[in-house]
Amino acid sequence: MNDLASPAPLTPLAALAALLAPEGRALLDEVRGTRPDQELSVATRLRRDHPADLVSAALAQARLRQRAAAKFGAVDAERMFFTPNGVEQSTRTTVATYRAERFRALGVTSVADLCCGIGGDAIALARAGIRVLAVDRDPLTAAVARANAAALGLSELVEVREADVTGIDTAPYDAVFVDPARRGGRGRIFDPEAYSPPLSWAVEAARSAPRAALKIAPGIPHETVPAEAEAEWISDGGDVKEAVLWFGTEPGGSAARVRATLLPGPRTLAGRGLPDPEVRPVGDYLYEPDGAVIRAHLVAEVAEEVGGGLIDETIAYITADELRPTEYATAYRITDQLPFNVKKLKALLRERAVGVLTVKKRGSAVEPEELRRKVKPQGPNAATVFLTRVAGAPTMLVGHPAEPVRPV
Ligand SMILES: C[S@@+](CC[C@H](N)C(=O)[O-])C[C@H]1O[C@@H](n2cnc3c(N)ncnc32)[C@H](O)[C@@H]1O
Repeated sequence: MNDLASPAPLTPLAALAALLAPEGRALLDEVRGTRPDQELSVATRLRRDHPADLVSAALAQARLRQRAAAKFGAVDAERMFFTPNGVEQSTRTTVATYRAERFRALGVTSVADLCCGIGGDAIALARAGIRVLAVDRDPLTAAVARANAAALGLSELVEVREADVTGIDTAPYDAVFVDPARRGGRGRIFDPEAYSPPLSWAVEAARSAPRAALKIAPGIPHETVPAEAEAEWISDGGDVKEAVLWFGTEPGGSAARVRATLLPGPRTLAGRGLPDPEVRPVGDYLYEPDGAVIRAHLVAEVAEEVGGGLIDETIAYITADELRPTEYATAYRITDQLPFNVKKLKALLRERAVGVLTVKKRGSAVEPEELRRKVKPQGPNAATVFLTRVAGAPTMLVGHPAEPVRPV
């Protein structure tokens, strides 16, 4: 090696430290909002006065901040630090805030956040006034969580510890929160025992604390929910985000062990253990329950609310003759029912001059884009078509969103 040899590249931890120092912070300010097509020219200019590694690290961080804005909002994301996995695995602010408020409503003032990642949940807990021990075994991730608590002025409430969660004494805390890593080397992990740490470990940690919440994948089978836990499925803007197993919430009876919570709101539907709704002929209205309601198996609760039944015993669409208010489903006025037949649909849409076609499906293998291509919608009107099954038969239901009815 001679003096002209290039310096060793910055390790991710060293890059973070450099970004937290004054020169790094100034660079982050300079590269804020850089579009991908501008990166090369910005990098070339900045490399004249700054180390190339630091410029690359600042640009990479700017890119991650832009990606994180969808979860954290642009204002927080611009001040925070991220790793690619950290952005991917973190809880979005809306959901983390909802959970933190629920902890607070349960009287919790301190939480051991076991598997804190870059701090999505720890930040929301601290903002709810809760003291947090945030633990992650990955050195870079823990350092990023610490930087985030500092960047958002929450260091007083958040202690970040780089450690394996299995060695943490949670006795000094009111509650435990575990958000295990669910992505392995080859993508998402579906078996809860393959989570890191495994779900069985998290359940034991939950049982040993006065209160606890475990974040899990929304696809978890209901049989996996421990008898004493309450399972809550959470959606945000209609997209199901997660399921949470709550311990120590004292659910009243076995049916209330299941909930669906819809954000924004929150609007929470508690299960009452109703039997499956009856199947009945398609009426004037079709209700599409929110995904959280479906995952929580609470379609019967919504059917009762709107006085409806199912269009098919295996399909989660509710039909009814009248429009009743519900916060847990979107209502459509159904104008036509056709057997599955693309030609007939095309003729009907042409007759109605439908140019904007929304395709929804449940229980059909047809691709919405393919259908839209085949029917070539043209005209000034809009319609929604549901590709589904009615009493076992492949069916198309045509209609449009019903005017919302406000609850009285
Ligand atoms: C899903 S992420 C947590 C995301 C976090 N709740 C947030 O909102 O930013 C899971 C984290 O668990 C950490 N982890 C996995 N197994 C662990 C263990 N045994 N001890 C400590 N941390 C662990 C991983 O490093 C990863 O950062």
